[in-house]
Amino acid sequence: MAGLAAGVGGHAAVVDGASAPQLGLMPMPAAWSVTTGRMAITGQFSVAAPAHTDARLRAGIERFLRRWEERMGFELTRDAAAGASPAFTVTCDGPGPAVAALGEDESYALDVTAAQIALRAPTVVGALRGLETLGQLLASDAGGWHVPAVTIRDQPRFQWRGLLIDISRHWISADAIKRQIDGMAAVKLNVLHLHLTDDQGFRIESRKYPRLHECGSDGLYLTQDQVRDLIAYAYERGIRVVPEIDVPGHTTSWLVGHPELASQPGPYAIARRWGVQDPALDPTNEAVYAMLDGFLGEIAALFPDAYLHIGGDEVNGKHWSASPRIQAFIREHGLKDNAGMQAHFNRRLQTIVSKHGKKMIGWDEILHPDLPSGTIIHTWRGAEALAKAARAGFQVILSHGFYIDHMDSVARHYANEPLPANTALTPEEQRRVLGGEATMWGEWITEETIDSRIWPRSAAVAERLWSPGAIRDRDDMFRRMEIVSLRLEETGLRHRANADAMLRRFVGEAASPAALASLRVMLQAVEPVKNFQRHYQRTAVATQRLPYTGLVDCVSPDSPPARKFADAMARWIFVPGERDAAAVAPLVRQLAGWRAAAEQVRDTLAPVSLRTREAGPTIQAMIELCAYGEKLIALAGQTERRDEAWLKEQLALLSRLAHPPGQWVELMPAASLRLLVCALATDAQRAGMPAEAWRKQVEKLAATKPPKKTAP
Ligand code: ACM
Repeated sequence: MAGLAAGVGGHAAVVDGASAPQLGLMPMPAAWSVTTGRMAITGQFSVAAPAHTDARLRAGIERFLRRWEERMGFELTRDAAAGASPAFTVTCDGPGPAVAALGEDESYALDVTAAQIALRAPTVVGALRGLETLGQLLASDAGGWHVPAVTIRDQPRFQWRGLLIDISRHWISADAIKRQIDGMAAVKLNVLHLHLTDDQGFRIESRKYPRLHECGSDGLYLTQDQVRDLIAYAYERGIRVVPEIDVPGHTTSWLVGHPELASQPGPYAIARRWGVQDPALDPTNEAVYAMLDGFLGEIAALFPDAYLHIGGDEVNGKHWSASPRIQAFIREHGLKDNAGMQAHFNRRLQTIVSKHGKKMIGWDEILHPDLPSGTIIHTWRGAEALAKAARAGFQVILSHGFYIDHMDSVARHYANEPLPANTALTPEEQRRVLGGEATMWGEWITEETIDSRIWPRSAAVAERLWSPGAIRDRDDMFRRMEIVSLRLEETGLRHRANADAMLRRFVGEAASPAALASLRVMLQAVEPVKNFQRHYQRTAVATQRLPYTGLVDCVSPDSPPARKFADAMARWIFVPGERDAAAVAPLVRQLAGWRAAAEQVRDTLAPVSLRTREAGPTIQAMIELCAYGEKLIALAGQTERRDEAWLKEQLALLSRLAHPPGQWVELMPAASLRLLVCALATDAQRAGMPAEAWRKQVEKLAATKPPKKTAP
């Protein structure tokens, strides 16, 4: 790629700010420029791979063509007529490694002119990445289907761009995992991290120790044949599969069939609730190491990737502390405490992992000076952990800030920069930061909701990890994410389809189409509660068998209408000259529309739909919140005194309306209205302050307190 990139001189020099908004790409390429002209795509479109070709490349080209055909609604010729040159050439130098590998060359060059499309790549994986880019470039207008003339030189910024899928807490089938793999490929993620075992399920077949999956999974596990098939499916798309076998904590499901491995006597049952559990493997028992040797040997043979993730997180030590035998072992071996005991366990584990030809990766907690230098630390507990591991000489990947299960704003994940411009790490330490992973933990998802919890938001994480750090314009990211959401549906993802079907089930057969349409409108302003609050509030009552089919499960964590309302409101409040009648009219109309929809739901749907009645607190809060907002905006121009007592009262009201009790949702306009009341209460100070300082002050005042971390 170096030769190809040399002419353009790096990212910044060729980033063409003016034309960037024309493209619907995600992630944005390392370097691109848009030239004049376009290539029309007609039924005569043909493709050829004149250099290296193989089954994987041919299948990738075929998927690409099929998606275009399905989008455009007509068939493409594919093979150029004799003597004619093909419209599209894919020139690939070679196959790349036979096993998807860390650091594989994923670069490609794409040149589109009015006459021809040329994709060049050193490896098949690079060609696959380029095909995804080209797939996203297809556009239509009155002039027909076309690809804009562009020059793209692309390669990833980070080599480890992962998605963790936890199939233990709730069972996620191989078919559902395959859908996510297709989505990953579409946005150039390249590591599928499968969290296979945990307290609530042992989800992989062990032929050596069948009691593990037989007793620990309710019959819901991946067979070894299914795993091989998944790995092949991922390889076809240039994606590595890294298994996680989480030990020595998070192991209740192991102990159901093998209580003899536990630190405390059994019997054990599969955990049905969430949060950190006490059971742990006994690190003083030789039978534990013998079993790990046997089982990890099976895993190592099954998964061709060079890395094996051993978890290592959240060992609370309770069962170790309660064991005189384990405490005596700690004393006799000078291990100091339970953390020392875990370090001892990890040293033994490391030997086993290494014996089976794998490198070890584990969560923050395994960080210890004794670990061999090839070990990767997977950080989840804070930004400092990343720096600490890199300084200690370890390679590191970042998941803190990419916890998509927390349902936080996607803008936050997008801004989560692994290597900020002001990083204190030396260049050598920075090179140890391999990338990151979005984490789809499984407590609050099912096979039905997983797509809408991963997509399209993970495209923002994918861009953070693939694209140059300078690409961080939030608004442009959101613009492109809406387009990419449609493209992701083309791959078979069901992030919108499932939500719609769930909503129809929720309202039931007596609902009229008009009432259901009103509910859809109202739900534009509703998202799942943020900051992992569902977990903190529900862990005490939720079990693995609780159906996740409520309103909270139907609504999107990233509602575009809610975000657009928030953005327009912020402009109206903060941008000088925007606080006029023309700017405010759409805001009032939006609130009135949501209120009217909620009133319709209350009056026509709730009487005939039991579950809609269950959502009564949300409906009522929406009506009150929107009515309050309409009134507040009307009063905004008036100069009555708004003192601290007034502000306190408004904020308390908004807190109540934002989170109707027992619903686990957030009414999104509440945050904007908090900003507005804080702005109104401090309006008098505005004149004497720089606009940005005043805005910061208002935002700080309006911020809700960080949630209490109670429960688990
Ligand atoms: C983790 O979230 N316990 C790694």
